[in-house]
This record gives sequence, C-alpha cells and structure tokens, in this order.
Amino acid sequence: MNGLKHIYIEGGKQLFGTVSIQGSKNAVLPMMAASFLHKGISVLKGCPKIADVFCMEEILRELGAKTWWEGHDLYLDCSTGEGTEISTVYTGKMRSSVILLGAMIARNGKGKIGYPGGCVIGQRPIDFHLYVLRCLGVDIREEGEFVEASCEKLQGSEIFFPARSVGATEQGILTAVLAKGITVLKNCAREPEIIWLCRYLRKMGAKISGEGNPCIVVEGVESLGRGEIQVPPDRIVAGTYICAAAITRGRIEIENPPENELGAFLEVYGKMGGQYKQNSGKLIIDGRTVGKSVPFTETEVYPGFPTDLQSPLMAVLTTVPGKSCIREKIFEDRYKAAVQMKRMGAHITVKGRDAFIEGGFPLRGCTVKAEELRGGAALILEALACEGISCIEGCSFIERGYEHICEDLKALGGILTED
Ligand code: EPU
Repeated sequence: MNGLKHIYIEGGKQLFGTVSIQGSKNAVLPMMAASFLHKGISVLKGCPKIADVFCMEEILRELGAKTWWEGHDLYLDCSTGEGTEISTVYTGKMRSSVILLGAMIARNGKGKIGYPGGCVIGQRPIDFHLYVLRCLGVDIREEGEFVEASCEKLQGSEIFFPARSVGATEQGILTAVLAKGITVLKNCAREPEIIWLCRYLRKMGAKISGEGNPCIVVEGVESLGRGEIQVPPDRIVAGTYICAAAITRGRIEIENPPENELGAFLEVYGKMGGQYKQNSGKLIIDGRTVGKSVPFTETEVYPGFPTDLQSPLMAVLTTVPGKSCIREKIFEDRYKAAVQMKRMGAHITVKGRDAFIEGGFPLRGCTVKAEELRGGAALILEALACEGISCIEGCSFIERGYEHICEDLKALGGILTED
C-alpha cells in the first residue's frame, strides 16, 4: 500500500485466519538514527516499508548517507554523512526526525533542525530533547523556525528527566554513547522500543545498561561499529489486528506476536470478554466472546495501556453495549477519530482528556476522514463493524505506520478495496 486515496470497506464480516506482523515503526526509526553513528554499512532486517521509514531514509540521504533495500532488509551506508541540517520540510512531515539531532552533533559536531511545531495529536514540544542535549554539553540556540546546536566534545553527565518521554530518552542514549565518560539517565521511559535501541547499539559496540528500568547508564566509547539486527514485530500493529478480531467478533492467529509487550492492552481486551492463548509461539485471539463494556481505561507510559492503541480500543468499545470511559493521559488532543466515528453512528462524548462511550448502537458506513495515524487505523476498524460501505479518506496518515493493513484484513476475510 502506497499513495492510496481511498479505502472502501464493506462492514459486517467476521475475521478469521492467520496474520503476521510487520517490523516495528517506533523501534526502527531510532535504530536508523543510531546507524548514522557508524561510518560504514549497517543493516536493519525485516524493516517495514512505510512512509515514516522512507522519510527517515530520505533525511539520511540528504545528510550524505547511501541507502538501499534488499527485500525487506534496509542497508544504510553512512561512510559519508557530513550533513548537519534537517529542514522544516522533513521535521514537519515526521516529528521523530528530531531524534537525529544528537546523532548529528555526536558525529559532526553540530546540527540544525527545523522546529517541529504543533501536531494533530497535541503540542508535542521538544524541550526534554534540548534539555538532555544541554546536560551533555551541547550549546543550543533557538532561532525562529530553527534549533541550532553544537558541541566540540560531548561530556557524560547525570540527568534527571522532568517526565518520562520515549523520544527524549532515546535522544539521551544516542547522544551519550559517544560522549566522554559516564552518563546516568534517570526517570527514563521504559518502552520496549528503548530496549531494542539499546540492544542494537550494544551490537555496534556501545556500553549501555539498565534499559527497561527508569535508570539507564551509558559509558561513552570512542567509536561504534557495524549494526545488524532483526527489527522486532510492531506491538501497535499487533494490537490493532487484535482489535480487528475483537470488533468483528472473529478469531485470528498472530504468527509472530511481540513477546510480552502487550500486557496492559491484553488485560483490557480480556475485560471486554476477549480470550487469547499462546500456542507454539503463536498468539491465538478469540474475539467471539467480546461483549462487555469497560468502565475505565487510562493511557499511561509503558507498561501501562499504550496511547497508540487508545483509538483502536475506542472503536471496539463502541460495539459493546454499556458505558465505557477512556482517559488519554499522554497526548492532549488525541480524539480526532471520535468525531468521525460519531458520523458512523457511535455514541461518544469527549470532555477534555476523557471520552465517554455508550456502545451497542447501530453503526452505518459513510465517508470519514483519517487525520492521524492510529485514529485512521481505528476508522478502518470501525468500518469493519458498520452496516454497509464506508469510505476512508486521508489514507496517507495510515500509510505512515501500516505497511499492508488492507491486504492483511482482506486475507482474514474482510471486504476492502482501495484506489
Ligand atoms: N513531551 C514534552 N517534551 C518533550 C518530549 C515529549 O512535553 O521534549 C511530552 C509530549 O508532548 C507527550 C509526552 O511528553 O505529551 C510523551 O511523549 P513522548 O516523548 O514519550 O512521545 P514521542 O517520543 O514523541 C513516541 C512514539 C509515539 C507514541 C509516544 C508515546 C515514536 C517515533 N513515536 O513519541 O508514536 O505515541 O512515544 O508512547 O516512537 C505513533 O506511532 O502513532 C506515535 C505517535
């Protein structure tokens, strides 16, 4: 899927069958930034072919690297890479490109990026990113649309993050691996993607310990070597497909589930009446028993319920009779999909960070518009439960993170066409 304008979905079909999960977007993006720290070739195996990865690839090329694909393996040759500027064109397209700032400084002594600005799910400032860089000795100047940063020699430090941020934790690690001395990062985010980044960096020769805990210790090294890793399966895509089984009251088998990364999500799925079991490495999802409302769920940093699955969960909750409430604690404006679901007949009232859902009302297919990635995927799910045909617009948002959601749902028995 690429360059889609519309997805048409005929609702009302239960999904059955087996599906495998693409590589993780949020794990691979920081790995791509890490690869820029090695002046040679690295390879990311099983890399998802999604818009955000292509955008990051384009930025790395702009900085002087060479990239190519062999099947789903992405090769990054960063023997050359003297570039020090990422324009607002890219930072506007993909905020997480800010993750390259520390890597540019570590490699080339300076970096300039277009200020990412607000985003459709919330303001998403980068103050924690800049804070951790300053703590490592970086001189930062914020001028209009740009942030300019430079440093002659990064210096390890003890840093306490004001709040848990996935991106800022990754920024801290990526910058500290080549700094002089020891860096102690406290109050770190604990998301699995951080653990995967550290595994990758260790393969490159970095000295890191403690990831997965709030305190991560990085001992700076002189240089990093070749990186090679199998990109892990995407836990959010897996969660989205579990919601697809749940909303259609179907039964699916996930061939390569993420290992122990979906705990909080599966707990809520269980509260809805959903069943699951592990069998010879597969995760078997039986959504035929889904039917109970969930009085209260709040999104939280890992290991809590992931914000990225908040909209998909909301879609499922609109189909179970009774009252449910979701509280979105990570991003202040992540309910855009609710407005569209209401057009399909869902009963949802949003008050600030809370969404009150009264489920079980009939849903009718209509034209709806995706305005962000996960909300867009949630609209596909909602359409699967509608009577009649829905048309999803704004597919480019969905393509940022889902490599072949339409093909996968079709293989499970869903009726979808695209143009
Ligand atoms: N925050 C700040 N200042 C900062 C950084 C973050 O105030 O400098 C705030 C954010 O505004 C937000 C909270 O801290 O309210 C948490 O943001 P975090 O930094 O953890 O998020 P992120 O690193 O920008 C990653 C994922 C998101 C995912 C969040 C939360 C990537 C590329 N993105 O974003 O993924 O929702 O963590 O788990 O890893 C998605 O895939 O759809 C997506 C949005």
